Amino acid sequence: MDVNEVERLIKISKEHPLMPETYIPWHLEPANDDVFLPEILTSLQGLPIYDTLSTNQKLELGRHELVQVIASYGWGECLFCLFMTRHILTLPLDDVEHRFLLRELIEEFRHQEMFGQAIRKLGGKPIQQSGLHKFFGLFSNKYLAADYLFMGSISIELVTDVYGNYARRSPNIYPVLKKMFDLHNIEEARHIIFTKSLLKTYTDKAGYIKRTLYSYVILFNILFVRTMYVKKEIYERIGLENPEKVFKLASKNFKQKFSEKCLADTMKFVNEWKGFNLLTRWAWRWLLGVEV
Ligand SMILES: [Fe+2]
Ligand SMILES: [Fe+2]
Repeated sequence: MDVNEVERLIKISKEHPLMPETYIPWHLEPANDDVFLPEILTSLQGLPIYDTLSTNQKLELGRHELVQVIASYGWGECLFCLFMTRHILTLPLDDVEHRFLLRELIEEFRHQEMFGQAIRKLGGKPIQQSGLHKFFGLFSNKYLAADYLFMGSISIELVTDVYGNYARRSPNIYPVLKKMFDLHNIEEARHIIFTKSLLKTYTDKAGYIKRTLYSYVILFNILFVRTMYVKKEIYERIGLENPEKVFKLASKNFKQKFSEKCLADTMKFVNEWKGFNLLTRWAWRWLLGVEV
């Protein structure tokens, strides 16, 4: 791990904290043509059914799906905070990794509060995680070793980074959400630099089997997060007929979009330490629909 680099990250975190309370213009209400999620990230855009939706249904689809996305972030970050809290107990208080993780914990707690406030501001009703998500989330958090959990966290951070960039660069995104994504991307960029640097110590000495396992951890984390966003109940809420059928079409559509638009950075990272091999390539193709 590059200690000087991590010291620099700690310094920025302390000297330039971004407070959601003041950084985000919470008092602003959405303007008439503001959207909550760029169309391209919604599950139905690209399907013929999307063109049959009214302007209001499109807006509502974006609002509900955005709420689902940030509620999932909040839940995932809370889980990761549980792990980090346990992990720093094993490190001396003056250790650079311990000190950075304290900064990351502080920031992640602020993010969770910020996501919750944004959900309230949007009048959102997040749909609970499925039993399977809860089980795998809690099980892996409790029993996997630290290197695997950091692998999982970086895969999710890399995906949320791409998502955030789409959202904050969208010209008519609701300003509260734009600033929320700005803040999140700035702070997550530091977490990504730290985690990559930390993981390099592990990947440098990892053999074929370990690289295969790391690759699967990343793959399953992405699958985990991708399947949290698309929900049948949202199609019911916006008044679509046959929500079950729409859900099936949307899941397929979203899988394809997600692999095309959100996974380039993650795949580059996996490739850097040769995580694609005979044992992993087929699963990436089959489960995530990527070309590798
Ligand atoms: Fe975060
Ligand atoms: Fe993070």
